[in-house]
Amino acid sequence: MQEKYPQVIINLKAYSEGFGSSAHYIARATETVSEETGVVIGIAPGYMDIHPISMHFKIPVYAQHIDPVPPGAYTGHIVAEAVKSAGACGTLINHSEKRLTLADISGAVDAAKKTALQTVVCTNNISTSAAAAVFSPDFIAIEPPELIGTGISVATADPEIIEDSVNAVKEINSKIKVLAGAGISTGECVKRALELGADGVLLASGVVKAKNPQDVLFDLVSKI
Ligand code: G3P
Repeated sequence: MQEKYPQVIINLKAYSEGFGSSAHYIARATETVSEETGVVIGIAPGYMDIHPISMHFKIPVYAQHIDPVPPGAYTGHIVAEAVKSAGACGTLINHSEKRLTLADISGAVDAAKKTALQTVVCTNNISTSAAAAVFSPDFIAIEPPELIGTGISVATADPEIIEDSVNAVKEINSKIKVLAGAGISTGECVKRALELGADGVLLASGVVKAKNPQDVLFDLVSKI
């Protein structure tokens, strides 16, 4: 597993094209593109696929969520330590499709940090990005919910949200890396997001639902 921070993270969500053998197929493509281009690309599979993917592939693996609880009597909860021991190097927190309260975001970031998991806190607007920056996660991923899964790139449809989030976050803590997400699917989108100040991108459907994920991944990193 690489410990370097990724510039691209692929969230497999719960898409049927993104679990089991399909998750392995995408992970293999991710590893190939990463090795051939030198761009670090992470993957956030479903919980059941964290362990096999982290065993088989040399790519950073992220959980899609953790709960703000320690190991113990918490049936059905996702514990940071368990995610770490399954082979993940980090976790998404507060994804648009798995929102948490502010208190739970803080608790989840703390739980991840105690376990040395990288933290990627997802946000929906500039003020939420600024609020999340106070918790000093490794990454903040700004994703306007209305563009998620539409194929309409945040980098062209809402460039201000990227620029303004980057400024708001870096003003609070310049070490936090900002990812842009929603509708990203091409190298041109990635280039635009980086020009707007983002450190990288978080995306899902553009890769997971592609006929040939490897081709999309090569294009995605082609202008970095
Ligand atoms: O976590 C990534 C995500 O919410 C963006 O989804 O399908 O618009 O790339 P998508």
